[in-house]
Amino acid sequence: MQAAVALALAAPALAEDLDLPRQKVDLVAPPFVHPHEQATRQGPAIVEFRLTVEEKQIVIDDAGTKLQAMAFNGTIPGPLVVVHEGDYVEVTLVNPETNSMPHNIDFHGATGASGGGDLTLIYPGEQVVLRWKATRPGVFVYHCIPGGVGPMVPWHIASGMSGAVMVLPRDGLKDANGKPLHYDRVYYLGEQDFYVPRDAKGKFKTYDSHIDAFADTMEAMHKLVPTHVVFNGRVGALTGKNAMPAKVGETVLIVHSQADRDSRPHLVGGHGDYVWETGKFSNPPETNLETWLIRGGSAGAALYTFLQPGIYAYVNHSMIEAFELGATAHFRVEGTWNNDLMAQIRAPEPLRAGTSPQ
Ligand code: CU
Repeated sequence: MQAAVALALAAPALAEDLDLPRQKVDLVAPPFVHPHEQATRQGPAIVEFRLTVEEKQIVIDDAGTKLQAMAFNGTIPGPLVVVHEGDYVEVTLVNPETNSMPHNIDFHGATGASGGGDLTLIYPGEQVVLRWKATRPGVFVYHCIPGGVGPMVPWHIASGMSGAVMVLPRDGLKDANGKPLHYDRVYYLGEQDFYVPRDAKGKFKTYDSHIDAFADTMEAMHKLVPTHVVFNGRVGALTGKNAMPAKVGETVLIVHSQADRDSRPHLVGGHGDYVWETGKFSNPPETNLETWLIRGGSAGAALYTFLQPGIYAYVNHSMIEAFELGATAHFRVEGTWNNDLMAQIRAPEPLRAGTSPQ
């Protein structure tokens, strides 16, 4: 009898119907973000999303290195989910029967039951629906946490199973004085460290299945030395022809998540006009930052109005990670150059006698 009471206290109640409007949102692949209102006059709603777990082999660099990846909706990071404070997030999590492992989802923005992880563990061929109330505004990581303990958790995360939720204040973003802040574009960057095992000659190994890769990958992970640190799933996912477009005068919100380890984002040639370094919109944003910190297991947001055209590198300012391991993205900004902000007064030229100072 007592055990039954204890169980009843611990078990979450089954969902009651809520008399609220429903919205169904089709998620899109990062760095893009599904259409949404920045501020809303509507009351709270139940917002429905669908996340399907994909286990698959992907190429993560230009050398063709292969990873046994696990990914929400097939992308690393998983899609950015956007709602407003007070909304209910209703997620259908799908584990296709072609998969080989159980998966679940822990939303850092949710309250109770391991962020939903305890209520969403599903095996191949199953699906589950979880509803949680978005009570705290900000950007929050979500990730797989299968079984709650043991090596599966870090392995699934290091294989790509994380993403982020953005809970906007109902009346939108604000600066420290309460002045509304607006963005013209939003991009979502998920930074991911990979640990690809090497053979005796130092070459990256390839595996036929996730289970085959497991033991070697865990051994590589235990050294805490990533072989790749990338934005959006592979080296070069957001550089060159994949650069994120913007225009001079446009304000861009950059959402950056890292489920595993710290990162130090820096926009080369630009700044963070307003930065929610810890990602929580109930705290005032810092201003005019050069580099900020994304703590492992968190997401942050930075707002910047581009003032000059050109290619801007957005890097992890651990430059070895940016240049050697892949943690570089690009913005391609079109518009007119402002000579007042910067001008080359004399082009490079040979040293001439009498022109060098001292
Ligand atoms: Cu998983």
